[in-house]
Amino acid sequence: MSDVAEGIGRRIGAAPGAIGAGGFAVTNGGGVEASGPVLETRGLARSFTQGSETIHVLRGVNLSIAPGEIVALLGPSGSGKSTMLQAIGLLEGGFEGSIRIAGEEAARLDAKGRTAVRRDRLGFVYQFHHLLADFNAIENVILPQLVHGDDRAAAEARATNLLTVLGLGHRLTHRPSQLSGGEQQRVAVARALANRPALILADEPTGNLDEHTADVVLAEFLRLVREEGSAALVATHNERLAARMDRVVRLHEGQLQ
Ligand SMILES: Nc1ncnc2c1ncn2[C@@H]1O[C@H](COP(=O)(O)OP(=O)(O)OP(=O)(O)O)[C@@H](O)[C@H]1O
Ligand SMILES: [Mg+2]
Repeated sequence: MSDVAEGIGRRIGAAPGAIGAGGFAVTNGGGVEASGPVLETRGLARSFTQGSETIHVLRGVNLSIAPGEIVALLGPSGSGKSTMLQAIGLLEGGFEGSIRIAGEEAARLDAKGRTAVRRDRLGFVYQFHHLLADFNAIENVILPQLVHGDDRAAAEARATNLLTVLGLGHRLTHRPSQLSGGEQQRVAVARALANRPALILADEPTGNLDEHTADVVLAEFLRLVREEGSAALVATHNERLAARMDRVVRLHEGQLQ
């Protein structure tokens, strides 16, 4: 049972940087304290300066997400969806305004605190999935759980279950390069859910999939997120998929409508 996990352990030892480079988040069981919002942004602003030009991408975004609520983030290409998810994911600084995750004000956190919030509260599905290339599907889903300190056998069982539910039971030991784009996306979904995060930030989680597969994967994603009691903020271009979430917000000229 623990062969895979032990193999991962050895490989982690061989390449400790791989974990940070992967950028995944792990959590401590998804528990959301109290009854407050799992996410609250106030006046969130982000601009980029290139040469003499400053692009104001986010111009005061106010958003509150309740525990367990699944919110679709719509907006045309270039409207700032990924920028917003990156800011909320505390992946980079450079923003203005307030971001509170499970009650913690991001501006008051140092680097260690931000890492802890990412690890303990958030799960990520990136627009470009960022799986660890040297690790196979099940290892990619086990890893965040091991980093969090979970029991290896339990981590492996959960990874197997998540991947199987997402239709990848026959691809557990394939590496990302041996998986289709859609299959890789499903591994990324399983990885984001692995630690039952309070809030999942998903950037086009089904963007690489054909229409039918996107529907199937999104339905499973929504079901799993609901079952786990996680909240989610899901950037998408797809109105049809967005309509299946609890609420839709739209980015327009740097603000939410
Ligand atoms: N590091 C950066 N430096 C300069 N400009 C940037 C940077 N990152 C993003 N931008 C600009 O910010 C705007 C928003 O980009 P973003 O990736 O957030 O859009 P998006 O809504 O996610 O689009 P898509 O739907 O195509 O993924 C774009 O015009 C982009 O060129
Ligand atoms: Mg984007």
